[in-house]
Amino acid sequence: MLRTQKTNASAEVRKALGLTPGKSLKEATPEEVRRVLDPYSQFPYPVSQAGDLTRVPREYVENWINVRKLAAQIAKLAPVATALEKVPREQRETVLHTALFEALNKRGSQAFFEEWQNPEAKKEIARIIGVSAGKPKEANDQNAPYAVEQLRTSIARRGNATLVDLGPGSGATIAPILDFLKPEERRKVTVVLVDAMKEAIDEKAMRNAIKSGKVIADLPSAEKVAKEYGVKDVVSIQSAFDDLEQHPDFGSLEGTADIVVSGAAIHHNQSVDGTFRAAAKLLRRGGKLAIWDWGHAAWKAQNLLVAPADAQISPSGKTYVDPRTKEIVTAPKDHAFVAQTPKRSGTPAELAGVKEILTTWTGGTDEKGGLLKYGPEHSQKLMTYMRQRIAAGKPVNFLEFLNENLVGQKRLNRPGAQDEETPTPYLFLEGHRPPELYEQSIKRAGLTHEETRYVPGSNLLYIIRAVKKE
Ligand SMILES: C[S@@+](CC[C@H](N)C(=O)[O-])C[C@H]1O[C@@H](n2cnc3c(N)ncnc32)[C@H](O)[C@@H]1O
Repeated sequence: MLRTQKTNASAEVRKALGLTPGKSLKEATPEEVRRVLDPYSQFPYPVSQAGDLTRVPREYVENWINVRKLAAQIAKLAPVATALEKVPREQRETVLHTALFEALNKRGSQAFFEEWQNPEAKKEIARIIGVSAGKPKEANDQNAPYAVEQLRTSIARRGNATLVDLGPGSGATIAPILDFLKPEERRKVTVVLVDAMKEAIDEKAMRNAIKSGKVIADLPSAEKVAKEYGVKDVVSIQSAFDDLEQHPDFGSLEGTADIVVSGAAIHHNQSVDGTFRAAAKLLRRGGKLAIWDWGHAAWKAQNLLVAPADAQISPSGKTYVDPRTKEIVTAPKDHAFVAQTPKRSGTPAELAGVKEILTTWTGGTDEKGGLLKYGPEHSQKLMTYMRQRIAAGKPVNFLEFLNENLVGQKRLNRPGAQDEETPTPYLFLEGHRPPELYEQSIKRAGLTHEETRYVPGSNLLYIIRAVKKE
């Protein structure tokens, strides 16, 4: 009985956050709730592009959203209040908060899928892929030999091997892996493709989507790529990562994977614990995880404070231990600390990643300009702003910089943009995280972290490897 009451309350919280089938988030969310989640939408371009705060990684969301206020607003909505009345008083707060975080996570994924169904956003995504040049290809190429070694070991041991790709899209992550293998090895490999988009796992759906202009470019589906390499079998699972454990085929796949790979996909989820938990269950003992993703510390909070050199910063960025006095220093509300020195050898300082992503968004570094379609001179301005703020011990606030410097400035008119006044529907707050948050989630899933390495030439792309111990 109690369980049903909790479920009712959770269902009402989900509706209050706009998770109503068939309705876009904007239509379905009550105004006062939307204002908390999307506080920048009323600002002029480009600040309005900060987007819905359910995109911010779960670990940082409380640095951006006043969760207590949001919970109080939701609890006031009539259907939620009625559902909560049936839950014992002492459990109401826990039920409300648990449901709220589950709903924030689902809403974050839904916002991503709504964006991908928007034809204007598609044009922008094609342009963004152009701006990020060959870096994703390099990341996929660098990750491949590790996966190949694992597949070969399994083939030598058992005569066959299973490769799982989380978010295979058009097959760019599996192609270099299968490319390395000899044809007779490929014939012993089963490829499991997990993607929420049908186009990734079903070539017919991809062809239809291309015909009707629903995809960004003439790309194959990962299913086609795997089949063309002549693998033993292709298993297609259409599922969001978070729902994977509930998929009817999940049980039969548990403990079968020799290697789980993923490229540029996991950050699309606001919370990643469900993804890594499912990945850990898919792996057999001795199986490996080899993922790469975009990540940086810039979305820790809207106000970023640079911590002293060698300070140990907490995962949420809210506190650090002073390296000299050993005292714990706490950041004010809406603020978080970033590191100016690398936390480990071979990794860049968080501040270097923050500079790289923020210039990528503003004016870029060459005549192609930045993702928000301004010229490279604006990146120079941003660097000066950051230098001055840091020297004065003041926080770097990217939205404030955009508001004060870029509102009303001339934008570039380049392919992909209809005219310079058209705002990009692409929102810049994505679930990008520095690698330590993935490492912690991987550990919570029961896997052992082996290494994290950055893709040369960028402070934003990193590869993480882990193992499910024998
Ligand atoms: C940027 S593409 C990456 C494709 C490929 N791995 C590569 O490196 O080019 C991201 C893929 O992840 C999928 N994806 C994003 N969020 C997802 C989620 N929550 N659950 C399942 N698939 C998701 C998308 O549909 C898309 O195919």
